[in-house]
Amino acid sequence: MVRHRKVVTIQTKHGNNVETRTRDSSSSVNSESSVASKTFKVLSVWKTLVGFICFLIAVYVGTLGYLETRVNTPFDDVKVVQESGLQLPDRYWGSYRPNVYFGMKTREPQSPVFGMMWYKMGITSQRDIRHWCDQGDNLPTYGWLRHDGVTFGEQLISDPPHTIVTSFVKTLGGEQGGHWTARVNITARNNRKTTMVLVWYGALDESLGASLDSRLWAEGGGLRGHTPQLRDFKLNFTLQQGKILHSAHSEAHAPGLQLLKETYYSLLRELKHKTFGRIPSIGPDEQRWEKDKGINFVPIQMIVETPFVLDVVYTTEDLPTPPLEGEEYTKVLEEKKKAFDAEFEKKFGLSEKGYPEEDIAIARAAMSNMVGGIGYFYGTGRVQSPYTREPVPYWRAALYTAVPSRSFFPRGFLWDEGFHGMLIGRWSPDIQMDIAAHWMDLINVEGWIPREQILGAEALARVPKEFVVQNNAAANPPMLLIQLARLVKLKPQLFHPDMPHRHTLKRMFTRLQAWYQWFQTTQKGSEPTSYRWRGREDDGLQLNPKSLSSGLDDYPRASHPSEIERHLDLRCWMYAAAESLATIARALNKDPSKFEATANQLADEDLLNELHWSPTTNTYADYGLHTDGVRLVRSKPKHPNEHPKMVRSVTAPPQPKLVTSAFGYISLFPMLLKVLRPESENLGKILESLDKPGLLWSPYGLRSLSKSSPLYMKRNTEHDPPYWRGQIWININYLALSSLKYYANAPGPHMDRARELHSRLKNNVVRNILSEYRRTGYLWEQYSGEDGRGSGCRPFNGWTALIPLIMAEEY
Ligand SMILES: *[C@@H]1O[C@H](CO)[C@@H](O)[C@H](O)[C@H]1NC(C)=O
Ligand SMILES: *[C@@H]1O[C@H](CO)[C@@H](O)[C@H](O)[C@H]1NC(C)=O
Repeated sequence: MVRHRKVVTIQTKHGNNVETRTRDSSSSVNSESSVASKTFKVLSVWKTLVGFICFLIAVYVGTLGYLETRVNTPFDDVKVVQESGLQLPDRYWGSYRPNVYFGMKTREPQSPVFGMMWYKMGITSQRDIRHWCDQGDNLPTYGWLRHDGVTFGEQLISDPPHTIVTSFVKTLGGEQGGHWTARVNITARNNRKTTMVLVWYGALDESLGASLDSRLWAEGGGLRGHTPQLRDFKLNFTLQQGKILHSAHSEAHAPGLQLLKETYYSLLRELKHKTFGRIPSIGPDEQRWEKDKGINFVPIQMIVETPFVLDVVYTTEDLPTPPLEGEEYTKVLEEKKKAFDAEFEKKFGLSEKGYPEEDIAIARAAMSNMVGGIGYFYGTGRVQSPYTREPVPYWRAALYTAVPSRSFFPRGFLWDEGFHGMLIGRWSPDIQMDIAAHWMDLINVEGWIPREQILGAEALARVPKEFVVQNNAAANPPMLLIQLARLVKLKPQLFHPDMPHRHTLKRMFTRLQAWYQWFQTTQKGSEPTSYRWRGREDDGLQLNPKSLSSGLDDYPRASHPSEIERHLDLRCWMYAAAESLATIARALNKDPSKFEATANQLADEDLLNELHWSPTTNTYADYGLHTDGVRLVRSKPKHPNEHPKMVRSVTAPPQPKLVTSAFGYISLFPMLLKVLRPESENLGKILESLDKPGLLWSPYGLRSLSKSSPLYMKRNTEHDPPYWRGQIWININYLALSSLKYYANAPGPHMDRARELHSRLKNNVVRNILSEYRRTGYLWEQYSGEDGRGSGCRPFNGWTALIPLIMAEEY
């Protein structure tokens, strides 16, 4: 009902076709009814009725058509991103391809891309070629040691017996984005002489169609090219150390950016070499000739002898400054590194706080990987609403964003980005405001932002089919809004009148409100001031149906999804969102009272307790149709040769109640998001249960689910291992630390306890992340609640990389 009423009012505002159709039929109804009132014969009643039915059908069809297009209609207001591409020359070039071990591109929708592959002599399959960051490559470590997000970066890759250091430095200036130099420095163990194959390539992105004005070719031992934005450019190789024993190139056609390695492999032919005998060397792309395709991929293959140092020098025509190379490059890189370390110390003060240099180096690497993991994506996502028969394309859009994991999640995730922003915003508010601006431009007319952003051919190639389509009923925690408000509080001077970021924030404001409003209308619960994540589905297979939109995937909720469900975490997120909008409104001299009122209502402890507090267990919890009597059992197959499936069996019927058996992160949310007043009695009870080793407390951080919970470390289906069912996650530990520090400084009865817990939890989290990094070479997606070992995917330089903020106690 509500939905229809709303539709009709908006209809007259936006829906052009709909409007005319509706108008036509309504005018005919009007004339019919006037005839009817005069004569009132059966016939005209009939006519009226037919007319009215036609009118209803027209409204229905029109409404459907209108509703169908809502999901991929952009929010109707000026875009937040006002400058892009060459308008921001400093951030034009960068390592914006986090999915590859090393690559460069511009922040341009159809930027050419450059990158590197390598492999050992005598490989037998294309799987042995290193190109995309891949856990299957089993590298002992790789990642940025230093990266400032703008001008330079230095990365260490270990691939025994080789150590490869890749770095780049940009030379800013001119109108075309300036020059850059990349250095590839390969050494073998004990500085031995070894041979291996190094490939450097250039490729044109033709996912939006080939451009007649873009060309790429090999010349003078290097690459040459032209695009409308870059004009003419050159890429030269200058050897600094070692030998190039053999080199070959090919001017080829790749079917897409996602198939560069495969195309390269198809170009290898056996060649008789005077020193090496038969070697695979790349040759001409015969298929390209046959199919009459243009050149879009130019790989240059080098068999090199280590120790080996190569400078890859990109120059643009319009900048007279000579490019960096050789000793000059070494000198400038050293200066950049020094300046970076000084800046890092100035921002996080870890040396001053007494951390030893070896710990600081890890913190620097974490920060560098977060910033060095920023990518630039362009393309169309796929979305679906209840009104679209099948998935439809979102509009073409750009996204400048950090990624949670270069190997496993090399794309944008909405709530992750809010956490990333906490760190990136400290390092460079300019970068973070630009990232947030890109995200806010992805909001549709409904106020919805798709949770996962899969833009471009390379990003799409990494995502299993079933996860590509984004549904417009699905939310994701509004962490980005909270992060923006935090930045406004931390650095008010950036948002003073006439400061550029104030204008950006202003443009964001209507969108942030629309986003907030979307939550308020679509994620409402059945009780006043209650909320419910949409999108939980009971398929009879899952031990506890997932709530992916909450971000906490398989964290146990009410066993039987229903409309009476109330989600505690979402209610707390809404408090924090209202609080944050009030902060932003005040900074912009707008009226915050509406948001303050909602925040006050959601902070009302009596109301919160009524909906979510259990006096029996003394804990906060979700509410819904729940039973603990569930388990996975093998079903009897219908056919003798069918594989028996695991299904869920329910041994006790569900009842409407609080889900108190799932004590864990959700139960902490009133503390995590600072909903509770410092003097709250229930805050004391949360702090008390926080400290129990039998529940969430471990020497490595807070577990996601209590050891005493029936679903602790239980699989959700036969194919789904536990994910948020005990493992330690750093984003929530970060929120816990942030709130403990807040309560430690807020006068009240729990100050001392909060301070003490903060200090112990911080030490545990920091000690474990650092020692796991030393032991494994990586930051991890999560850590075991049993022995602290890294688990899930690696490297995970998303929110686990918040470690410098935790070390600095700057939340
Ligand atoms: C190459 O790397 C090695 C080992 O890290 C280092 O000693 C050497 O100075 C580097 N050379 C250049 C030219 O950067
Ligand atoms: C690149 O190489 C070409 C051919 O060897 C040479 O003419 C040109 O000067 C070089 N450019 C730069 C910037 O080194």
